[in-house]
Amino acid sequence: MSAEELPAPNRVGIGERDPGSDSSHPGTPVDPADRGAREDRDRLIGAPFLPPQEVAATPVSGTASVVLDSRSQVSEHFRILATKVRMLVSFDRPACIGVVSASAREGKTTVSIGLAHALTRTVATRVALLDLDLRRPALAHSLGLGKAEGIGEWLDNRSEGIPLRRRSDVDFVVATAGELISGSYELLGGRPMLRALEAARQAFEFTLLDLPPLGPVADALAVQDHIDGFLLVVRSRHCPAEAIQAAVSRLRVGMLLGIVFNDQRDIIPAYYNYASRRYGKD
Ligand SMILES: Nc1ncnc2c1ncn2[C@@H]1O[C@H](COP(=O)(O)OP(=O)(O)OP(=O)(O)O)[C@@H](O)[C@H]1O
Ligand SMILES: [Mg+2]
Repeated sequence: MSAEELPAPNRVGIGERDPGSDSSHPGTPVDPADRGAREDRDRLIGAPFLPPQEVAATPVSGTASVVLDSRSQVSEHFRILATKVRMLVSFDRPACIGVVSASAREGKTTVSIGLAHALTRTVATRVALLDLDLRRPALAHSLGLGKAEGIGEWLDNRSEGIPLRRRSDVDFVVATAGELISGSYELLGGRPMLRALEAARQAFEFTLLDLPPLGPVADALAVQDHIDGFLLVVRSRHCPAEAIQAAVSRLRVGMLLGIVFNDQRDIIPAYYNYASRRYGKD
């Protein structure tokens, strides 16, 4: 299936008309008056998740700084995406959505962050973003959260629970991947992970999963029986159409909720060099 075959509401382009932004001030500080409501929401969060820890909003660089900047043109695209995503899932049931791509470096982490932020600013108050790319985790770095234990340690029975963290300038909570030595496919498809996703549904209106690409590794498929569906990030000029078709064909029928076109114009001018390396081993 090509992207063009999807009905229009399931498609959105990120970075289409954005000349770029050099903002180093993502988001705005949270009003102290909102803190009470936030604490009430946090009380809904149960095991295996630990209570969210607030962390300082240190400056972030790269695309994260742009997608978190609510004044950027790109954040407008993400607000549109958030309202479309709202329409794609059932209104009476919390949603759990995986973000995937065919190949590496198409923008899954960027889109996950931008969408999580936009959801809290448009259609939801309780949003979680889980880094399930246990082979090449990126959320902690992208969001300036530093190195700490995460989902990997919990799946590996090395910690009591899954730590949640929240930057003081955003409303969504994040579970970083932490460190996992091996066995990610088995662990992602196992009972503890299913329990964590069920707990996330109890606590959050939207749970977004930043997953590895479908082409190089099967990890994303391990969770497909436990989630509502996938958003497929397609980066322009990046991945051959046949590879995208092959990746989509690996998903169960009906699991593709929509396609997010990334980078129709670069979000930031400074472009990275793509090197073909073995996924998760560099
Ligand atoms: N629209 C864009 N314009 C400019 N740079 C971008 C854009 N989208 C993503 N990037 C950059 O491309 C790189 C890969 O993006 P990102 O980490 O979001 O992709 P990914 O699909 O999560 O990668 P991986 O497969 O390694 O997990 C990052 O350096 C990011 O900042
Ligand atoms: Mg990523």
